[in-house]
Amino acid sequence: MPKHVKDLDVKGKKVFVRTDYNVPLDSDGNVTDDFRIIASLPTIEYLLNQGAAVILASHLGRPKGSVVPEMSLAPVAKRLKELIKAEIQFAPDCIGPDVVARAERLKPGQILILENLRFHAGETDNDTDFSRGLAELADVYVNDAFGTAHRAHASNVGMTPYFEQKAAGFLLMKEIDFLVKAIDSPARPFTVVLGGSKVSGKIDLLKRLADVADNILIGGGMAFTFLSAAPLNHDVGASLVEADKHQFATDVINLCLEKGVNLVLPSDCVASREIKEDAECQELPIRSLEGDLMGLDIGHRTVKSFNTILESSKTVLWNGPMGVFEMTPFQEGTRSIAQKLCDITKKGVTTIVGGGDSAAALKKFGMDDCVTHTSTGGGASLELLSGIKLPAFEALKGAK
Ligand code: 3PG
Repeated sequence: MPKHVKDLDVKGKKVFVRTDYNVPLDSDGNVTDDFRIIASLPTIEYLLNQGAAVILASHLGRPKGSVVPEMSLAPVAKRLKELIKAEIQFAPDCIGPDVVARAERLKPGQILILENLRFHAGETDNDTDFSRGLAELADVYVNDAFGTAHRAHASNVGMTPYFEQKAAGFLLMKEIDFLVKAIDSPARPFTVVLGGSKVSGKIDLLKRLADVADNILIGGGMAFTFLSAAPLNHDVGASLVEADKHQFATDVINLCLEKGVNLVLPSDCVASREIKEDAECQELPIRSLEGDLMGLDIGHRTVKSFNTILESSKTVLWNGPMGVFEMTPFQEGTRSIAQKLCDITKKGVTTIVGGGDSAAALKKFGMDDCVTHTSTGGGASLELLSGIKLPAFEALKGAK
C-alpha cells in the first residue's frame, strides 16, 4: 500500500495535491455539482492544519492541449473560496516561471489553485518535461484524485518519481478501501445491481462478478442484449441491443448458472416509441415487446423482484441506472432502486454506488447522502472493481 497523507511530514512544506475537479459548469460558468470539490476538503484541511502550503491541480473536461476558456478552473476556485476558510489564489496557468514564482511566495496555510492541467498536451501525454515542471512547484506530493486514477498522466503518474515524500489523500484511500473491500470480502449475500446502456463497458466487471457475487440484477439498456441473447432469445423490439455482445451475454448467463450466481433480468419494462419528456408510454411484459417499441425503464414487477433480493442482502453495489432516468417517464425504476438502497442502508446494509450516472441519479432524486458510499469516480471505480490496477495508485508506491 502507498503511504497515507497522515504518514507524511508536511509542516512548513509546499504540498502538490492532485484533485479531480472535473465538475459540471453551467453556461454562466458556475459549478452545478460540487460533490467532488466537497470530497476533496478533508485532505486540504488536514494539510493546512498541519502547517503546509497547498498547491491544487486538476483537469476539467477534455480541452486536448489548448486553452479553452469554458474549461477554466476559475469557477472551481470561486466555489472553493466559499467552502474553505483559507487564503486562495488562482494561477492563470499550471506551469512556467510565473507559476513557480507564485508557488515560491506561498505561505503555510495558503492555497494556490492552478489552471486546467489539460490546457497543455504534456498532461495527457505524460510528458517528461511537463512532469518535471509540475514537480518543481512543491516539496511533497499527494494524490487525492480518485476519479482520474485510471489514467496515466503527468500529474498523477509522470511527476511522482520526483518526490521522496508522496502519499494518497483521505479521499483516494477511502475510495480504494470501500470498493476493494466490497469486491474482495463482502458481507454476504452480496448483490450487484448493474445498469446503463451498454454491456461493452462492463465486460471485465461482469466476468469478475460471476466469481464473487451472490446475485446480479441487470436493468437499463444493457438488459436487452442479455434478453435477446441465447438461451432467452426474446424479441425486444427496437430496444438497444449490442448484437456483437450476444455471445458474451450467453457466456455470462452460462457462467452464472455454473457458479450458482443468481442472475436476474427484467420481466417487464416501460416501453415507448420515442425518447422524449412527453413520450407516450406503456408498461409491458418483456415478451410483449415488438416492432418499434423500446424498453426504456424497468417495470413494477421487475422493481418488486429486485427489491426482494436487495432486502435480504448484506452488501449491495450499484452501477448504472435502470432506465433513461434523465426523463420523467423513464425515471421510476431508477428512483425505486435508489429509494430501496436508502432504506436498507438504514437497516445496516453496506450500500456502495459507483460514480458517473448512478451518482448523478442519486443527486437528482435528492438521495446522495443516504447510501454508505458514493464513489467520485465512474471510470475509475469500474476499472478497480473489474480487478484492473489503477496506475495513479500504483505510482504512489514507487521510490524517488
Ligand atoms: C471523470 O470525470 O471520469 C474523470 O475526471 C476522468 O476524466 P476523463 O475521462 O476525461 O479522463
